[in-house]
Amino acid sequence: MSSYAITGASKGIGLEFVRQLAADTSNTVLAIVRNPKATDISEVASKYSNVHVIKGDVTDPKSILDAASSTSAITGGKLDVLIHNSNAVDSAAIALSPSQFPFDAEAVPKMFEPSIATAIYGGLWATNAFLPLIEKGNQKKIVHISTAMALPDFINKTGVSYAVAYSVAKAGMNVQVAKYAAELAPKGIKVLALSPGWVDTWEGEKTPEVVQADEFMLKQFQVGYPDLKGKILPDESVRKCLQVIGNLDERSSGLLLSHNGDQERWT
Ligand SMILES: NC(=O)c1ccc[n+]([C@@H]2O[C@H](COP(=O)([O-])OP(=O)(O)OC[C@H]3O[C@@H](n4cnc5c(N)ncnc54)[C@H](OP(=O)(O)O)[C@@H]3O)[C@@H](O)[C@H]2O)c1
Repeated sequence: MSSYAITGASKGIGLEFVRQLAADTSNTVLAIVRNPKATDISEVASKYSNVHVIKGDVTDPKSILDAASSTSAITGGKLDVLIHNSNAVDSAAIALSPSQFPFDAEAVPKMFEPSIATAIYGGLWATNAFLPLIEKGNQKKIVHISTAMALPDFINKTGVSYAVAYSVAKAGMNVQVAKYAAELAPKGIKVLALSPGWVDTWEGEKTPEVVQADEFMLKQFQVGYPDLKGKILPDESVRKCLQVIGNLDERSSGLLLSHNGDQERWT
């Protein structure tokens, strides 16, 4: 019998975490979303009685504290695993390489803001809000969903120069995770940054531009990882991520691991 809270559970990988965890009826699953009335999460909650949908925005301290408090009322003050999965980007800036950023003291912080707010501030506030519950849980695990795009080795191998704010924010997330692991080790709490692989979370039909962007990225990724065939589906990513979370212990606490459970097979 385990309890899991997942932030950013409205769609994509977060929603798939909820689906797979809910399928084990002995689990209690807290789906933290900005809009509890959103269609997909409402459908999952209506199918599984062990799913509780809770309103929570990780970039708003009061909102995420309220979410932790609602969780506590459901679980009796404890939580086994927190998965901080939320992410946002400034889509207008995602294609820029570093030298293309303007000399504009207002524009540039706005380009970084959504990524930094969800990965760094959101990572801090979500973790700190749920920490008292994790301390009382049995598994004592905190997982931040990160990416290999934040790794200098991955960037050097593939030559991917865009997605600057996203990658910088996730690199900060990885450091923050290591800091948490160092702080919380004496309490037996394990903290992990986990890369889910390259996952197809696009909703609905893909436009020709999206298909083209996928093909462009695939070619670039294949420069560093020639065996890569394409994106994996959320089902496979989350199944593998859950295995890695299951194996998380004091030795792997503080690391960034791939969905394959190592620091090599990122795709
Ligand atoms: N897909 C990939 O290939 C891939 C690769 C590497 C890493 N990742 C990481 O995996 C995670 C999930 O990716 P995804 O592709 O499933 O992303 P996604 O489809 O864009 O979903 C992002 C989720 O974050 C939520 N969110 C955004 N801002 C939030 C906030 N302020 N507070 C709470 N929730 C917020 C969104 O909720 P709303 O519905 O309210 O907007 C949504 O549920 C992310 O951390 C991403 O960086 C993904």
